[in-house]
Amino acid sequence: MFTKLNSPNTTAQDQLVWKILFDRQTALLHRRAAPAFNQGVAELGLRREVIPDINELSAKVFGHTGWELAPVGRPFEPAAFFELLAERRFPVVTRIRPMHSFDFSPEPDLFHDLFGHVPMLLDEGLADFLHMLGQAYQAQPVGSPAREQLWALYFFTAEFGLLQHEGQLRLYGAGLLSSAGEIHHCVNENTPRPVFDLATVLRTPVTGTRYQNQYFVLPAWEQLTECVDELAGMLAGA
Ligand SMILES: [Fe+2]
Repeated sequence: MFTKLNSPNTTAQDQLVWKILFDRQTALLHRRAAPAFNQGVAELGLRREVIPDINELSAKVFGHTGWELAPVGRPFEPAAFFELLAERRFPVVTRIRPMHSFDFSPEPDLFHDLFGHVPMLLDEGLADFLHMLGQAYQAQPVGSPAREQLWALYFFTAEFGLLQHEGQLRLYGAGLLSSAGEIHHCVNENTPRPVFDLATVLRTPVTGTRYQNQYFVLPAWEQLTECVDELAGMLAGA
């Protein structure tokens, strides 16, 4: 376990940004978030009034799935990021976006990480899936196509994944859960939302556009963990 976790040194404006974003996302996610997200938010006790303490959240997550939160100053590059995942540690950026770029954070910030990712880390399926991704990435040579494919798999699941649940579309990717604009774009009737297919996802390039061109929909939550065996076979044959 980490012995020294730094909680964000927050200002009154940071707290206000958290509160406004929390309220907006909570309203938007009503009947749109995956059950695992709602459960995670409830179990962590996330609330609008205060930015949560990273130490306390890390202890709660560790108690559920053995993951720990690693506070970082800025987002990691993929190699360092996957190295942490392989150790069941998830990096959390300790800075929240400023009020003047309230609507859109060009890179992950504290709200994206704490609100979007951390509740999902309480789900056994996603927690094990991310761990497997970290290990698989580490096992592949630096610069290999397989590493690009694993990045794409991470990107179209943990960041921008959708789930079909009881006949309805539910969001579980942190990039969706934490962004009003991304949600509106994603649920627009003109936005492609193909059914999740591992081979297709692996060969779909990750783009740096503001919103994604498409979002993959898992037919069932169990399929996320079930694709791990399939993935091992594909990487072995790559
Ligand atoms: Fe993220």
